[in-house]
Amino acid sequence: MTDKNAANPIGVFDSGVGGLSVLREIHKLLPHENLLYVADSAHAPYGDKSKEFVLERSTAIVDFFVSHQVKAVVVACNTATGAAVKELRPTINQTIIAMEPAVKPAAERTQTGIIGVLATSRTLSSNNFQILFARFADQVKIITQACPGLVEQVERGDLSSDKTRALIVQYVQPLVAQNVDIIVLGCTHYPFLVSLIQEIVGSSIAVIDSGAAIARELKSRLEKAEILAGPHHPGPVRFWSSDGNGQAKQVISQLWGADVEVDIMPERVLA
Ligand code: DGL
Repeated sequence: MTDKNAANPIGVFDSGVGGLSVLREIHKLLPHENLLYVADSAHAPYGDKSKEFVLERSTAIVDFFVSHQVKAVVVACNTATGAAVKELRPTINQTIIAMEPAVKPAAERTQTGIIGVLATSRTLSSNNFQILFARFADQVKIITQACPGLVEQVERGDLSSDKTRALIVQYVQPLVAQNVDIIVLGCTHYPFLVSLIQEIVGSSIAVIDSGAAIARELKSRLEKAEILAGPHHPGPVRFWSSDGNGQAKQVISQLWGADVEVDIMPERVLA
């Protein structure tokens, strides 16, 4: 790779810690890339904020990445994808990769012809999702379920308490009752709950997400642009959070699976 941009970092962000489920797939597939992660945990969940607010936060974070000379941005948040990506694309030259719930692979795999989608209510009501839904509507029956409270549980690093379990039981029950055989996790926080969800729904229902597909898409876009980092690059990962109350380091380390340093976002990006 001769392009001078190849050594530049990739910015990945989410309303909070959920995007780490996408970041780990990117790191696994592209271990030589220099990755910057921003968890906007002080403002999570985005799901109950206005579209304008999510766009404002996303713009501030993308500006922060641009000031770090990123070569690409991954919006590792379905809610921000629905609320902000269309507006963000024309504002920067860098490649932007956005989320899409794994409805297409689910539609291809389902045997019952019925799939379930768990997501935030903002994602489910977004234009992007409505378009995706319509694309597969005559092929499969899609049952959607909003999951208020689940993002907050993951933000606390609470992946297995009675409260988390009770919320999941409440949200998956209607899907199981309607004979889904695949559940799509349409929020990047939920893959951290996959073991518990799988245990609750049983092994006859597959639980899938789009983290690995997003990593593959990123790789292919970088390859096409000839800005994939070469094997000589070290591939460091840096973390920032807007949550200054001390929990960020602990939860990010827990979900990342290693003790990591987490910086607090600079003042101009915090507000
Ligand atoms: N991880 C975000 C998503 O994928 C959570 C949304 C939120 O903060 O409401 O949608």
